Amino acid sequence: MVSIHRCLAALIVLSVLTSPLMAQQRVELSVDTSNSGATINRNIFGQFAEHLGYGVYEGLWVGPGSTIPNTRGIRNDVVAALKAIKVPNVRWPGGCFADEYHWRKGIGPRRVVTLNPNWGGVVEPNSFGTHEFLDFIDQIGSEAYLSVNVGSGTPEEAAEWLEYLTTPQPTDLAKERGTNGHAAPYKIAYLGIGNESWDCGGNMSADYYLSQLRIFTRFVRNFNPEQRGDKQMLKIAVGPGGDEPRFTDWTEVVMKGWKNRQWSWDMQGLSMHNYTVVNWGNKFSSVGFGESEYSTVLKSTLKMEELIAKHSAIMDKYDPEKKIALVVDEWGAWYAPLPGSNPGFLVQQNSQRDAILAALNLNIFARHADRVRMANIAQMINVLQAMIMTNKETIVLTPTYYVFKMYEPFQDATFVPVTFNAGTYTSGNITLPRVDAIAAKDKSGKLWLEITNLDPNQPVEIETSLVGRNATSATGETLTAPKVDSVNTFESPDTVKPKPISAKVQVGKLTLKLDPKSVTVIGID
Ligand code: AHR
Repeated sequence: MVSIHRCLAALIVLSVLTSPLMAQQRVELSVDTSNSGATINRNIFGQFAEHLGYGVYEGLWVGPGSTIPNTRGIRNDVVAALKAIKVPNVRWPGGCFADEYHWRKGIGPRRVVTLNPNWGGVVEPNSFGTHEFLDFIDQIGSEAYLSVNVGSGTPEEAAEWLEYLTTPQPTDLAKERGTNGHAAPYKIAYLGIGNESWDCGGNMSADYYLSQLRIFTRFVRNFNPEQRGDKQMLKIAVGPGGDEPRFTDWTEVVMKGWKNRQWSWDMQGLSMHNYTVVNWGNKFSSVGFGESEYSTVLKSTLKMEELIAKHSAIMDKYDPEKKIALVVDEWGAWYAPLPGSNPGFLVQQNSQRDAILAALNLNIFARHADRVRMANIAQMINVLQAMIMTNKETIVLTPTYYVFKMYEPFQDATFVPVTFNAGTYTSGNITLPRVDAIAAKDKSGKLWLEITNLDPNQPVEIETSLVGRNATSATGETLTAPKVDSVNTFESPDTVKPKPISAKVQVGKLTLKLDPKSVTVIGID
């Protein structure tokens, strides 16, 4: 009798454990640590700072006379926050702004006050110019990614900007640089040749742009003797901007042109822009939404994968050795402007949904690390999917900021493949993978794992088999929030903030229970 009872009890336990609900709540991952892929270039954690709304003015530049603590006009609180996430590069001055930017208006004691027709038609004081940007880059310990004006500028203007910035020789432009406070040549790591030249950057056809690209890459030179060989400035051409057929043609034309190039010009990167926007005509709100908008936006953001795959395949045809990087230098969520804000300033909130969205995109970039070697989220401060929001002397760190902070161990780490059956999470007629994950080894050999639980309602138990490693424990951080639309505000800045998480590893298996709608990064010892 006793044994029959025991058998029945065991059967009941077994059936509960294997019921569809339980099966759904448990995901097995396997990481073979002896296997490794490409380096996850730290530049995929790059930022974008355009002269747009409060992105530069008020966001990072308050001027030396401000009562807000600053160093030579640049906010100390913002610098400290950005240093903490180890920003690898910053793209500046635009965006659409770049193709109307004339650098001479932003140097020297007398700045030219002009307009910013793209973004609200407001006054552009040019008080934040070349020297201020490069001071900012220096203060946060990053690298400069300048975009030169191809649309309304000339090759001569761009070439002179680079001579001004980089020559050590005593030319008139170098002397002027010295007079303006910087005798030594600057280092300019990356140079964008125009921005969205198929649209706001001049409405060019692909063939016309290619002819401009040849001219600009020929004449816009970096003269800094320290930027030779593998330290050379990388030139990035305008690439596709979404999934329309015209962008497939664009990538074809530019890559074919590059393949057939003469000795006298070259490029090292092709840009790609891809925002997460469900409906351009009637954009979703960044606040006050529910699960339906959450799942719709995440479904939309996952299109990044197919877009990268599509354009990488075209690039592979002309560049099988992957010499040219795909540079996703504008990405992120683009929602409706917050009520009461200037619509031209692209002010939006940043929620736990955006944290999940950021993790999913960073994981896509990491999985394509052999081709995607740089990316710039749009935009760094107060604009679109920002890291930081400012209000006079106060700043707020967004959920997206914390994702970038948590992912810091993945900068320049070596990709390690993870195999898993992601399961599904369904909301209405939308079905998404339940989890996403990546793994990588840092320079010291330590293994890092990121796991995103997309399901906003159910926790997930993760069992990870660690093949080829005698691990004993794992510690890290997890980021979740009370609701999918939880945000950090100036009044409640800590609603969405990472918490520590730890786990034991037993018999080569790491078991973790992850909260609904969470992003988790753990290091395995
Ligand atoms: O990031 C805002 C704008 O989006 C940029 O200026 C432009 O390049 C893109 O269309």
